Amino acid sequence: RQNFWKSNEGENPLFNTDPGHLEEQAKAKLTQNGWFYASSNAGQSHTHTANRQAFYRHRIIPRMLVDTNLRDTKTSIFGHEVNAPIGFAPVGINKIYHPHGELPVASAAGGLGLPYALSTAGSQPIEDVAASNDAGAAHSKDGSGSAVRFFQLYMPHDDELTRSLLQRAVDSGFTACILTLDTWQLGWRHDDVATSNYAFYHGQGADLGLTDPVFQRRLKEAGIDPKTQPNEAGAMWIDNVWHGRAHTWEKAVWAMKLWKELSGGKPFCLKGIQSVDDAQKAVEHGFDGIVVSNHAGRQVDGAVASLDALEKIVQAVGDKTYVMYDSGVRSASDVFKALALGAQFVWIGRLWIWGLSIMGETGVDHVVRSLLADLDILMNVAGFQSIDQIKKDGRKHLESGP
Ligand code: FNR
Repeated sequence: RQNFWKSNEGENPLFNTDPGHLEEQAKAKLTQNGWFYASSNAGQSHTHTANRQAFYRHRIIPRMLVDTNLRDTKTSIFGHEVNAPIGFAPVGINKIYHPHGELPVASAAGGLGLPYALSTAGSQPIEDVAASNDAGAAHSKDGSGSAVRFFQLYMPHDDELTRSLLQRAVDSGFTACILTLDTWQLGWRHDDVATSNYAFYHGQGADLGLTDPVFQRRLKEAGIDPKTQPNEAGAMWIDNVWHGRAHTWEKAVWAMKLWKELSGGKPFCLKGIQSVDDAQKAVEHGFDGIVVSNHAGRQVDGAVASLDALEKIVQAVGDKTYVMYDSGVRSASDVFKALALGAQFVWIGRLWIWGLSIMGETGVDHVVRSLLADLDILMNVAGFQSIDQIKKDGRKHLESGP
C-alpha cells in the first residue's frame, strides 16, 4: 500500500489543509506584496470564480460493491511511472514564498514521486533545482520517489537565450518541455497594479535568468552589473523574456524543433490552450501534448472556465494528443472530475504555493500528501480501483448540469 499519511520531516505538519484555511494561513505568513502576487487574479476574478463553479456543475455518482481494497493512484506520464496523475504546475519567483525558493518544492515533488515543472521565472538556477529534485527522489521515505521534471519555457525573443535555457534544461535532466502560451504579458491584476508590485518582482532575484551565460553577456553589453544593480538586472530579464510582444505558431514550432534537437526528441507540450481551434492546431503542428489552462484565472478576466474548455477540447482531439488540465483544482474530487472529463493528467498551482508559504518543504509535502490521501479515500468510497478506471468509466459517473 502507498502510505500518504505521514509527512517526511520532524516539524509538526498537522495544519488544516482545507483550501480556505490554507489561504488564511499563507496570507498570515506572507508580506502584502507576496500575498498580492500569489492571490491576485485578472480583473474582477470572474474567470477564477468560473473555474471553481465549473467543478460544482459536475457531481460524482458513487458506485457500490466494487472491490476497491486493492486500489492504486499510480499512473504514467510520457512513459514515466508516477504516484498519481497530479503534478506541480510551474510557478515563478518562489523566493517570494520561501527563502530557498524552488528548491524545497522540487525536493518535495521528488519525494512524493510526482512530476515537477520549473518556471522560466524561477528564482533559483535550473541546475540547482534539478539537483534538489533528484535529492528529494533519492530520499523518499517509502522509496517511491521519482524525479520526473518538466521545464516550462517562457520564450524570450532572443533566440540565443532560448537555446541556452533549453540546453541547460536538457543538461540538467529535464524529461519534457512545456511552452506557456498565455503570458507574454501579465493580465490586469488590480492588487498588483495598485501596489506597483511589478517593480517588486524585479527585486526578487530571477536567478534562473541571472545565472544564464547568454543573459550575463547581455547584461554586460548593457553595462548592468547584477551585483550592484539587482533591480535593473531583474527588470532587464523580465523585459527580455516577456516584452509584452506575442509569439506565433511558427515560433512555437521553431522552439519545439530546437528542444527536440537538443534533447534527442523528448516531449514538447503547449500550456494555456482554451479553444478547440487552438487544440486542433496543436495537433496539426505535431506537439506532443497540451495543457488546457487559463493560468488560474490570472490573464483574461471573463474567460471561459478551464473545465468547460476541457470537455470540448477532449471531444475534438482527446484521441489525437495528450490532454492535461489545470486551473482551480482544490481537492481530490476536482482531480476525479477532470480525469472523468477526459484529462490524462492534472497540475496544481496555488495549493502547493500555500503549503510552501506556510511551512516550506514540510508544508508542501503535507498539503500534497493530504491531497493524495484524499484521492486514495475518494477512490475507495466512490468505487474506483485505478486511475485508468476513472478515465474510462468516470464520465458515466458524473451528473452534469446547473
Ligand atoms: C502561476 N502560473 C504560472 N504558469 C506558468 O506557466 N509559468 C509561471 O511562471 C507561472 N507563475 C504563476 C504564479 C502564480 C502565483 C500562480 C498562481 C500561477 C500558472 C500555473 O502554472 C497554473 O496554470 C495555475 O496555477 C493552475 O491553477 P491553480 O491550481 O493555481 O488554481
